[in-house]
Amino acid sequence: MKRFRENETFQNVIQPTRQEVLDGFSFKGKWHTFFKNNNPIIVELGCGKGEYTLALAKRNPSINYVGVDIKGARFWRGAKTALNDEISNVAFLRTQIELIDLCFSSNEVSEIWITFPDPQIKYKRTKHRMTNPEFLDKYKRILVEDGLLHLKTDSEFMHGYTLGLLQGMGHEIVYANHDVYHNEGAPSIVIEVQTFYEQIFLDEEKPITYLQFKLR
Ligand SMILES: C[S@@+](CC[C@H](N)C(=O)[O-])C[C@H]1O[C@@H](n2cnc3c(N)ncnc32)[C@H](O)[C@@H]1O
Repeated sequence: MKRFRENETFQNVIQPTRQEVLDGFSFKGKWHTFFKNNNPIIVELGCGKGEYTLALAKRNPSINYVGVDIKGARFWRGAKTALNDEISNVAFLRTQIELIDLCFSSNEVSEIWITFPDPQIKYKRTKHRMTNPEFLDKYKRILVEDGLLHLKTDSEFMHGYTLGLLQGMGHEIVYANHDVYHNEGAPSIVIEVQTFYEQIFLDEEKPITYLQFKLR
């Protein structure tokens, strides 16, 4: 509750109600008014504490980053760090990823990062899997043409499912690595940043996978 209340005072946190998003989200197509510049926008879905959002923002001050998660108490950490460290190219949006195409307009997003999503292994949970065709369709609607997507996960199931789906649907797989810390070649940001959940999986000695792709 304390974090929830504090989030409401943070200038880098946006917490629309579901109804507000459904009725017409105020920043859709107008994120430049939030950031007060026309720099490209990169979105991290299911950002948790926002490790990637922050690390990327620090490295690329001329790009804006939006961490999206339904749990405000998690991204409170990232939002507070961004404010303390005066990282101004960062925002956190509390909403359901299912509504992402109501939060950004077409061509408003340059890249999407998906970091350690729940793989939703059971067949009945397929509709909640964040790389299923329905979600990919929403991502395509907000991405610029040729926009990159990144999937970093401990789940070999999620990695394989996504690879198979992308191949079957004729999308472009730019780069795939099924064990980034043991097989050379992953981008440095993939090797150098570990998220909260990733650390748990690394302690369990699970291989970490990474996919970079484009939707056609
Ligand atoms: C396994 S955690 C990973 C968090 C973070 N990326 C990390 O690696 O530490 C998955 C995150 O996705 C968020 N999430 C899951 N389903 C979501 C949805 N439909 N809409 C918004 N956030 C969602 C959860 O709240 C959680 O913070």
